[in-house]
Amino acid sequence: MSVARQTDLVPMLEGDLDWVAAREAELHPHPWTRGNFADALESGNEAWILRRDARPVGYAVVLPVLDEAHLLTIGVLAPEQGKGLGRARLAQLIAVARGRGATRFFLEVRPSNEAALALYHSAGFEAVGRRRGYYPAAGGSGPEDAIVMRLAL
Ligand SMILES: CC(C)(COP(=O)(O)OP(=O)(O)OC[C@H]1O[C@@H](n2cnc3c(N)ncnc32)[C@H](O)[C@@H]1OP(=O)(O)O)[C@@H](O)C(=O)NCCC(=O)NCCS
Repeated sequence: MSVARQTDLVPMLEGDLDWVAAREAELHPHPWTRGNFADALESGNEAWILRRDARPVGYAVVLPVLDEAHLLTIGVLAPEQGKGLGRARLAQLIAVARGRGATRFFLEVRPSNEAALALYHSAGFEAVGRRRGYYPAAGGSGPEDAIVMRLAL
């Protein structure tokens, strides 16, 4: 796997935060706020704008912890979904983590998020656990568990 091309993944900057928070609010019923993304940037996470042909098409935040990487959030704009971008950019995020010496990549996902689950399975992630009541309710029901997934790098 080649390392990300500079035009595909670019570091998220403070000037991107309004755009990212607005896109996040379009994609998630319980979105991260602008402040959450600002905190993620300040805390030294790997925060990225995902691009296609030099246009922003999404964003992702990865928390590096020793030899692990944790995908905290990833989003592809709705009109750009289903075109292979999530798969391609996730592969590039994995290559970046591997390149800095990470040996395991973790993430959490809602069991109801079929698109994300299918994407992660196809990228080689395996379910390794469950966090009870991790997510606020998506609809009218109670909180939703998280499936914890892991990829050996
Ligand atoms: C999850 C997400 C990042 C996937 O990005 P994407 O660019 O649409 O994904 P891709 O086009 O690369 O598709 C990759 C695989 O994901 C799965 N997938 C994508 N969209 C899907 C859908 N609507 N339904 C079911 N599976 C889907 C498929 O397995 C697909 O592989 P295939 O094309 O070979 O069948 C995107 O749907 C998204 O941003 N969703 C909203 C935010 C979100 O849920 N983020 C993840 C939080 S854990």
